[in-house]
Amino acid sequence: MNQSAPAAAAEPFDERLWARYRQPHGPEGVAVNGTLDVLLAHRSVRAFMPDLVPQSVLTSLIAAAQSAPSSSNLQVWSVVAVRDPDRKARLAELSGGQRQIIEAPLFLVWLIDFDRLTQLGAVQGVRCDALDYLETFVLGAVDTALAAQNATVALESLGYGGCYIGGIRNHPAEVAAELDLPPKVFPLFGLTVGRPDPNRPASIKPRLPQAAVLYEEAYAWTSAQRAAAESYGPALAAFQQEQGLPERDWIEQATARTRGPESMAGRHVLRDVLNQMGFPLN
Ligand SMILES: Cc1cc2nc3c(=O)[nH]c(=O)nc-3n(C[C@H](O)[C@H](O)[C@H](O)COP(=O)(O)O)c2cc1C
Repeated sequence: MNQSAPAAAAEPFDERLWARYRQPHGPEGVAVNGTLDVLLAHRSVRAFMPDLVPQSVLTSLIAAAQSAPSSSNLQVWSVVAVRDPDRKARLAELSGGQRQIIEAPLFLVWLIDFDRLTQLGAVQGVRCDALDYLETFVLGAVDTALAAQNATVALESLGYGGCYIGGIRNHPAEVAAELDLPPKVFPLFGLTVGRPDPNRPASIKPRLPQAAVLYEEAYAWTSAQRAAAESYGPALAAFQQEQGLPERDWIEQATARTRGPESMAGRHVLRDVLNQMGFPLN
């Protein structure tokens, strides 16, 4: 085993690996350290204690977010910290009635922000027309997600929990109005933050085995990859049973979620909405 942490960390880490896959891993051994331990312990938390999140914690989360790499260092994202219960209730409604947003003391809305650069460019007499291209929108989405995930790892390392909320893309224009967003600013997703309620704990949700997602040198979907992907069903079923969730086969669930525009909670019109919000996506 290739260890970069004290030997004592090895045993719990093996448990982490088991929790993540619920299948034995290969004989090759794994690297372990405290960072990996936090990463592998991730679970989305949807039940919170009412304790407020101190400003010092928010400062640390944003510092972690801003420590993420940024394409060409453009830093084209911003975040709105929402604590007001009424505003959270309205955002919860716009996100498909997700109670967890009301319960979480802090709701972070992560934004692709092309307004800041547009404003700064105007002062210089530069139009920044490259912001109008699909490529730059992808860049913005990537940078925003990298930043948010850094914040997520940071909050989990501090004993907080959270859950991404893609539901805010069900009604992005209404979310934009709620947060006073100018054109060229898009709410990509939300993130609830709070102390996990110990009486309603979340478990680590297993993932596809590595054999289903890791290719060496070049992509090749073969019967081995298919078998690996199909072996995931029972691992997830065991998790669902333990959590008291309805047992549902993953392939069935994932294909139902991607079946067609009717399975997208109204988000199939996103291109038009983005065009109206100041993103031509040329
Ligand atoms: C971008 C993004 C959007 C998500 N949106 C929601 C959401 O709206 N509501 C929700 O309950 N979970 C949401 N999730 C959480 C996923 O359902 C969750 O990450 C996934 O089921 C894996 O579970 P885990 O995070 O506990 O490992 C979202 C996750 C991501 C990455």
